[in-house]
Amino acid sequence: MNVRDSEAVEALMLAAGYEKAAGEAEADIVIVNSCTVRDMAERKAVGKCGNLIAAKEGRGKTVAPNVKVVGLMGCAVKRMGADVFKSLPRLDFAVGPRRFGTIPRLVARCLAGETRILELSGDDEVPTGMDAHVGGSSFQSYVTVLLGCDNRCSYCIVPDVRGHEYSRPAREVVAEVRALAAHGVKEVCLLGQSVLRYGVRNAAWSEDDPPSPGGYTEAFPRLLEALNAVDGLERIRFTSAHPKGCTDELVRAYREFPKVCRHLHLPVQSGSDRVLKEMGRRYTRAEYLAAVAKLRAFDPEFAITTDVIVGYPGETEEDFEATRSLMDEAGFDNAFIFKYSPRPGTRSAALTDDVPTSEKERRDQVLLDDQERRGQVRNERLVGTVREVLAEGPSLRNSARWSGRDGGNRIVVFEPNEGVRTGTIVKVRITAARPQTLIGEIT
Ligand code: 5AD
Ligand code: SF4
Repeated sequence: MNVRDSEAVEALMLAAGYEKAAGEAEADIVIVNSCTVRDMAERKAVGKCGNLIAAKEGRGKTVAPNVKVVGLMGCAVKRMGADVFKSLPRLDFAVGPRRFGTIPRLVARCLAGETRILELSGDDEVPTGMDAHVGGSSFQSYVTVLLGCDNRCSYCIVPDVRGHEYSRPAREVVAEVRALAAHGVKEVCLLGQSVLRYGVRNAAWSEDDPPSPGGYTEAFPRLLEALNAVDGLERIRFTSAHPKGCTDELVRAYREFPKVCRHLHLPVQSGSDRVLKEMGRRYTRAEYLAAVAKLRAFDPEFAITTDVIVGYPGETEEDFEATRSLMDEAGFDNAFIFKYSPRPGTRSAALTDDVPTSEKERRDQVLLDDQERRGQVRNERLVGTVREVLAEGPSLRNSARWSGRDGGNRIVVFEPNEGVRTGTIVKVRITAARPQTLIGEIT
């Protein structure tokens, strides 16, 4: 979401007449986008701003010799409020997540001499500039469809900083995706903290919208139906999801719409019913696994990825082993593991953070090792199959080879031929598997 918000700000700044600098060494204006989901993320963003301010004042290592304006945007600003100026007394401006549309004006004010401007967003604010895109830059694009989050998971600060859910009108989303496709975008990724709650808090479809041709009644599958019909678009992805959103209509949409990629990022957080309850996740282990089974029932190759938190307060060895076994049963294609980090103001912050750091690190490593093995086994099953790969360009590791992703979001590395172009779909036969990559040749 931050990548997308930064891109929108870039587009708004370009529209206001600014030019993109090659890097911070050339930049006059630097805006740092921040995350506060874990303590370390916030510290990095604040630390980066501190270094830039030092550069502006000619102190420290001058990484950015030309910088005149330093701004901070995003979730950390909302969490800190006016205290942001305690950490960064000479910050030029700070702007909360739903107010990035004001940035070009704030920058102009700072260039005119103002400093220490604070713009905090309201919990129900509808931002401006959400549909701004940098034209012609890529064949892939993020599209925000749902802002904020109304789940109140005990450990999570997102609802406090990104506010209440707001679903953008479907009509606006469809228009945005049509415009992107007309400019060469082949793949969109629809964004929301819990994107399957699209249209729940506020209606996304209005009475004047044409009825769903397929008779879809739920807002999100109906959006997939509308986007599947967009000319020129080849792929639709979305993230993140909650098992409660894995309805029969969603499965029908996966089955009926060829552009909808058969991949779901479905954060599980824990495999222990006791911990899930404490976290306020509103599902049991069995319900989670039922959602996984439902997706794999119609396509055994359906890719499922997840997020897991290790070291939640009170997490015992038994709870942890339950997470391990759930991960095996679910057969995740990829997993992001996070060490629990208490966030101020969340319900779990009142609990003692009693799993020692060394133990969190051990559990993290165990799950990573498990996933490495599991990834190898899962990928080996795909050797001999032909994958449709959206070619991204030369691979970072070895520029003689190209890489891209299949519908399941798996990285596929292959030898390019004469005809292959960035942003086109090629058929690749898989010849070898690695835990995180498939290797193959164009058929
Ligand atoms: N500590 C550790 N991980 C967290 N996440 C969210 N809040 C916390 C926290 N306080 C993780 C969850 C979520 C991902 C984006 O970040 O796993 O799915
Ligand atoms: Fe945080 Fe839970 Fe909302 Fe995800 S669903 S953003 S973990 S509160």
